[in-house]
Amino acid sequence: MHIVMIGPPGSGKGTQSKRLAESLGIPHLSTGDMLREVGRSETAMGKRVALVLEKGNLASDDLIMDLLSERIAQPDCAGGCLFDGVPRTEAQARAIDELLEKQQQRQVSLAIEMQVPDEELVRRVAERQANEGRSDDTPETLRRRLKIFQEQTVPIREYYQARNVLSTIDGLGTLDEVTARIRKLLP
Ligand code: AP5
Ligand code: MG
Repeated sequence: MHIVMIGPPGSGKGTQSKRLAESLGIPHLSTGDMLREVGRSETAMGKRVALVLEKGNLASDDLIMDLLSERIAQPDCAGGCLFDGVPRTEAQARAIDELLEKQQQRQVSLAIEMQVPDEELVRRVAERQANEGRSDDTPETLRRRLKIFQEQTVPIREYYQARNVLSTIDGLGTLDEVTARIRKLLP
């Protein structure tokens, strides 16, 4: 099964993806984690990526698809995988289906959209900033990430709606409550 998890910053994509991937026994692919890893390297590319993250901008579709195509080709992804925070643009949504089609004769079969009000996103991200200090969790960068989400990522709903695979869930509540809502979407 190939699942994508979409939602604004702080909506719980990472938290829920970990749980779901573990219970389904499929790899959890987070492009945010992949980019943070690239951003830690002391190369010119690493420095460029770290700056993109710090500003809350999107990495290029080409870089994202390079990272993903390499990862999806690994044998552990043969039975499916969970995409966390990707796609973020319609071009990525199409490219992922094309890649899966080419490599595995498959397409995304479930797109889960997590909805959480902005006030709660601001609260969660501020709390994480205090505890972990992620470079993009400042109030200013969070505003930018939210704006980009609205402009570039919300429109991909239509792509998945047209393919009849989109489900929207309420991301408010305890971790277990949200997990239970997600489980109901699974076959
Ligand atoms: P990414 O790492 O994906 O960040 P994000 O989308 O901004 O989302 P977060 O990771 O901040 O939040 P989350 O939804 O995973 O929530 P979490 O579970 O952590 O991407 C980072 C950056 O990389 C992007 O800004 C962009 O620059 C770049 N990038 C990534 N993918 C890209 C792509 N495909 N194309 C281009 N650029 C890309 O939860 C948040 C907090 O809330 C945690 O502290 C958690 O403990 C807490 N929490 C979770 N659930 C609950 C709950 N139910 N109740 C209370 N607290 C909760
Ligand atoms: Mg995350």
